[in-house]
Amino acid sequence: HQRVDSSSLVPTNDPTLLFTNAGMVQFKDTFLGSEKRPYTRAATSQKVMRVSGKHNDLEEVGPSKRHHTFFEMLGNFSFGDYFKLEAMQYAWELLTVVYQLPKDRLAVTIYEKDDESYDLWVNKVGVDPRRIARLGAKNNFWQMAETGPCGPNTEIHWDKYPERGEETIIQSLEQDDDRFLEIWNLVFMQFNRTQADPTHSGAFDEPLPSPGVDTGMGLERITNILQQGETNYDTDLFTPIIQKTRQLTQHDDATFAEQWVAYRVIADHIRSAVFMIADGVLPGPKGRDSVCRLILRRAIRFGTKLGFTEPFLAQVADTVIEIMGTHYTELVDKADSIKRAITKEERLFFATVERGLEALDEILTKLQADGQQVLDGETAFFLKATLGLPIQVTKDI
Ligand code: ALA
Repeated sequence: HQRVDSSSLVPTNDPTLLFTNAGMVQFKDTFLGSEKRPYTRAATSQKVMRVSGKHNDLEEVGPSKRHHTFFEMLGNFSFGDYFKLEAMQYAWELLTVVYQLPKDRLAVTIYEKDDESYDLWVNKVGVDPRRIARLGAKNNFWQMAETGPCGPNTEIHWDKYPERGEETIIQSLEQDDDRFLEIWNLVFMQFNRTQADPTHSGAFDEPLPSPGVDTGMGLERITNILQQGETNYDTDLFTPIIQKTRQLTQHDDATFAEQWVAYRVIADHIRSAVFMIADGVLPGPKGRDSVCRLILRRAIRFGTKLGFTEPFLAQVADTVIEIMGTHYTELVDKADSIKRAITKEERLFFATVERGLEALDEILTKLQADGQQVLDGETAFFLKATLGLPIQVTKDI
């Protein structure tokens, strides 16, 4: 495979996407056949964001052990070169031989109509049929956006609780309960969807000139498994950021343990903000910029829960730049402007919410004194419309 650099988080010339949301985005035209490359196999570690459009995980971030707004997606690609069998064999080899994950901790899902993949997993790769679930299009048919390259996929999952027994594997995968962690998605790019088709009727799917393979494995998840942490946050990718934040708060163990959601949100969001700003997206009122603002403000809000009353994120950003900058050198080159933009947004936010927070505080004190527990919608609206306090802040508090 040709190693190809990650492309920018901002897709070039693609109105169907706000942010690069998968490794295949930079190869979209190669899959569609309108761009030729001097290679037919590629591998990347791609910067991706999942905060808008078809793939949006924003609200999960914090409570979830495994969702992120920004993450690095590892992938291998075939453009009219190898297809299903090799993709499965490569993935299986990397996981079970190179990473030495035990086979009895892995399970797979396939698209319900994809008998070929079932046959290959069982008869060529040697996966136990009790470890293969057939699921519908919602889980096992991948699309980049409403239109564009798409196809059936097969996913490899990690079994967190093998003690629950082999007999319930398929059921757990079908119910998408807490047992399995999806680690690698192998997409068999076969069609170009020319119109949105929510029911997956297939009526608008044109065959691609040369079907190929697009795979995606979240670096944070596989790191979590290999480093045997409880969550993605317990890995080298996140602990330095969380430790830096804690250095600033000086929280004792009990407070730190109590505030885990806020620490995680900040760690996740500061990575997003640093990478977005490095790729030219600044906090602002519209389009991509508004996503940058939303994410930064969410981080600041959770910062207020930790007791921050003035800008602190630039210091946390330093840690991100330090641990990620050796590979993503753009972070080091732009460190000063990244931190300036972050601090500016924090100042703006604190100025706006200060008044609102004081008012909310008074209202809550009065409610409590009256023995009440519910802040009514009208008051929340007043705080937003008159004092500019974001509704989300009121909700969080
Ligand atoms: N493009 C596929 C995904 O993002 C691999 O899951």
